[in-house]
Amino acid sequence: MTTDAVTVTDESGVRVIRLNRPEKKNALTLAMYAEVTRALREADPDAAIRCVMIAGSPGAFCAGNDITDFLQAAGGGIDPRAHDFLHALARRQKPLVAAVNGVAIGVGTTMLLHCDYVVAGTGATLSTPFIRLGLIPEAASTLLAPMRMGYPRAFSLLVMGHPLTAAEAKDAGIVNAVVDPAAVDDTALKAAREIAALPPQTVAVTRGLMRGHVDEIIKRIETESMHFRELLQSDEARAAFAAFLARRK
Ligand code: COA
Repeated sequence: MTTDAVTVTDESGVRVIRLNRPEKKNALTLAMYAEVTRALREADPDAAIRCVMIAGSPGAFCAGNDITDFLQAAGGGIDPRAHDFLHALARRQKPLVAAVNGVAIGVGTTMLLHCDYVVAGTGATLSTPFIRLGLIPEAASTLLAPMRMGYPRAFSLLVMGHPLTAAEAKDAGIVNAVVDPAAVDDTALKAAREIAALPPQTVAVTRGLMRGHVDEIIKRIETESMHFRELLQSDEARAAFAAFLARRK
């Protein structure tokens, strides 16, 4: 299962989902959301897949939602493909490891709050500029970020839009390991293989207990989505999207 912009490969119990749109810093199009969702959902019933890894390209893990799609969605709300991705992320059964090099922006950062193990390159930055775009944070990040890193750090990240370096993200408890950029994929793959070699049932039960109630996460995704949908149509958000797309380099 491979498209130009998302490649999916299975090897030794690990499914690797690679975002492969480097010319756009791996900004997620609706088709990419659908592919990643499919790869996550299909991993669940597949006993041969024991861990999933998500990775980007050198220099960009993911620059968030494609802003052109945001502008087009402004008339009609959130596309089901983006919404489905958030549900698949929250509900998936298999552990998820992320390999983060370069920028992780918007959903590129908020998806990390759902991951079980995150490896980042020394130059990686995590940021969530939702508010400056006239939007609110999504993917249940308003619940998960304060829970995972404490309210003050979550406020600085989510509301003030201050980026975190890889070292700061590790200090905040949302990144497990910071390594040389050239070693990110291998380190993440090694962790994924280690997880894949563990007894799957006990991993599943322990992970389920540690993650708490998925329903609460889903409920927050829905509440955020309700606000997000309204804000997408605001003049403020539309102007911010248009300004990004029209910017001079
Ligand atoms: N949506 C659509 N296109 C995007 C994008 C996004 N989220 N992020 C980057 N791109 C595109 C740029 O438009 C550019 O396309 P072009 O070459 O056709 O003009 C290309 O990716 C490369 O980006 P560029 O801005 O030239 O590279 P950079 O190294 O100077 O900056 C970023 C990289 C990621 C910091 C910058 O592109 C950026 O801030 N992107 C927006 C991130 C964002 O706000 N995402 C939404 C979060 S809610």
